Amino acid sequence: MSKTSKHILIVGAGSGIGKSITGLLSLNYKLSLTSRKEENLKNNAENSIYILDVLQNDNIDSLIKEIPPIDGLVYCPGITNVVPAHHLKEKSLREVMQVNFEAAAYITGGLLKAKKIISDASLLYISSQAVRYPFFGSSAYSASKAALEAYVLSLSKELQSKKIRANCIAPAYVESPMLEEARKNMSDSFVENMKKMHPGAFATSQDIATLAAFLLSDNSKSINGQVIEAGSFNINIPAL
Ligand SMILES: NC(=O)c1ccc[n+]([C@@H]2O[C@H](COP(=O)([O-])OP(=O)(O)OC[C@H]3O[C@@H](n4cnc5c(N)ncnc54)[C@H](OP(=O)(O)O)[C@@H]3O)[C@@H](O)[C@H]2O)c1
Repeated sequence: MSKTSKHILIVGAGSGIGKSITGLLSLNYKLSLTSRKEENLKNNAENSIYILDVLQNDNIDSLIKEIPPIDGLVYCPGITNVVPAHHLKEKSLREVMQVNFEAAAYITGGLLKAKKIISDASLLYISSQAVRYPFFGSSAYSASKAALEAYVLSLSKELQSKKIRANCIAPAYVESPMLEEARKNMSDSFVENMKKMHPGAFATSQDIATLAAFLLSDNSKSINGQVIEAGSFNINIPAL
């Protein structure tokens, strides 16, 4: 299949879910990709590469200035800080909020202001089922993703008249570097029990990429202002 002329910006393209979305979309779209590390984006000679730390507003400002207009955005950055509420430090709370929510809003607002998002575009943000099914120590993470979802739902109303769509994917557990990191604090038996309790909940990053590709395409034109729950975390199970 030949590539369309559509141009998609993938923020956080170098790892896990973002990397799988990049692999799938690169078959059909012109891509602009960001990561904090150049080596995470090697083997992407056909695509435009931007080094971006979303904690640095000047990095974001440069991206917005340089990037050509886009037909789609995928916002993937996410960090966890899994600690009980009484151990939550102000600095790490701010960092989780900034990476998972505030930078998404800053990038989107900046692109809109600079008229870099064209009509018929699809904007997609990776949230988490931790909003509806929080786990022990997830207060900052769950709250940041809840803020992201509320932002996106409001954004979709604002942009409807411009024919720009905005949706979230909220995955349950996905096999990725983030889950590998979280596993360091889980015993093997805990992980096995989780899998038994949540059949089908451990999706692959390719599963999420397939859904993302659909939501970015014209085939999903009627889907706007939705949080698409991915994984079967919520089927017949008690909350953790
Ligand atoms: N894995 C799961 O079970 C799961 C479940 C639900 C939701 N999610 C969400 O899915 C998204 C992707 O996570 P993943 O599972 O693919 O894990 P991952 O491989 O650890 O990806 C994390 C992403 O966040 C980016 N990032 C972190 N801090 C950043 C910063 N300061 N500036 C710019 N980018 C930054 C990383 O980019 P670099 O290339 O710069 O490192 C990377 O693309 C996250 O939003 C996560 O919350 C994951």
